[in-house]
Amino acid sequence: MATPIPSLNQLVSQATGLFKQMFGDEAPKIAACAPGRVNLIGEHTDYNDGYVLPMALPLVTVVAGSASPGREASIITASEHADEPRRIDLRLPNEGFSPSAGLPKEGLPLAPGLPYWANYVRGVIHHYRAHPLPGFRAVVVSSVPLGAGLSSSASLEVALYTFLQQLKPDDGDKISKAVACQQAEQTHAGVPCGIMDQLVSVLGLEGHALLIDCRPLESIPVPLTDPGLVFLITNSNVKHSLASSKYALRREQCENAAAILGKASLRDATMKELEASRDHLGDVAYRRARHVIGEISRTVRAAEYLKQGAYQEFGKVMVESHNSLRDLYEVSCKDLDDLVEAAMEVEGVFGSRMTGGGFGGCTITLLKWQVIDRTIQHVQERYGGSATFYVATPSGGARALQLS
Ligand code: GLA
Repeated sequence: MATPIPSLNQLVSQATGLFKQMFGDEAPKIAACAPGRVNLIGEHTDYNDGYVLPMALPLVTVVAGSASPGREASIITASEHADEPRRIDLRLPNEGFSPSAGLPKEGLPLAPGLPYWANYVRGVIHHYRAHPLPGFRAVVVSSVPLGAGLSSSASLEVALYTFLQQLKPDDGDKISKAVACQQAEQTHAGVPCGIMDQLVSVLGLEGHALLIDCRPLESIPVPLTDPGLVFLITNSNVKHSLASSKYALRREQCENAAAILGKASLRDATMKELEASRDHLGDVAYRRARHVIGEISRTVRAAEYLKQGAYQEFGKVMVESHNSLRDLYEVSCKDLDDLVEAAMEVEGVFGSRMTGGGFGGCTITLLKWQVIDRTIQHVQERYGGSATFYVATPSGGARALQLS
């Protein structure tokens, strides 16, 4: 059976209870939520200025709290982060990040440090676009599984940013908000991520995936309303420790390949140009670039297939994407390959692939509703019982919540 997903109301009452328990009797006055995401296709293309096709999930992070006197912020998370403390207290800065001043010096309250989870908090406050913020107290609760490749970090960043907007509004520009959250992750969590996760967490639309062009940051909603179909997430429940350093290395390899090809980014390169420069590139750069160029074109085609209801074709490009991530980009792993292979053995499954950064995490599978139980059972048996499953219902993006 797929794992039941707690409702937003349940998360809000959990947050309210935790707030009262930790900060005294009064209930929180403001709250915001932001979703995790799953990417249907277009992997490792966002930082190459290419296309991605993600949807926002009903798995969400909620931040609830109240303004408080003074210039301090106290944040408590309900999630377990290894042995790290769950509470942080910060002195709020008078100003945010400025590109000319760079990162705050070590020892200042908003420099990255421990506990690690709080770097997302420090980063978002730092990159918030309307300082100075008033003091506040807040709690964080989430139904997005941590470290599963479903963007628990982006959902925390965007939920907190949306919470801060209730405390002290910025100009309300959604793209700048996503970019500020992406910067928070880059400067404070040290991951040179692309824009996909934060953008879909901000812009997600119920009943739709978004075809995002990561160069102009424009998105086109793609309806996912066929009641006979379902996207199923399978969590391998494995995470490889070098994932973020390998991610950074892939990004660097792409930038090098683009430079050798004389392009601003791999978005501008064609397969023909790639083949013509194969000898200059060397084997690794060639294969990385080949994945990216192929994946960008697959993603555009995939969005068309979805619009036309051409699910066989959509499933086929999902599998091509997986194979390319496995063989050319080398970001898959045995667990993910096994999950994809097992899913593809079930009749009524159209396609399956790893999703997100890779090196563990989840797969995404497109199938007929009628065969969901059979698919879960088969994959679970083949995988040895340790996978978890979520129905990926396309959901709305970040928003402020009314507390009654
Ligand atoms: C992670 C990053 C995204 C994107 C994906 C791979 O989720 O945060 O920006 O690059 O990996 O597609």
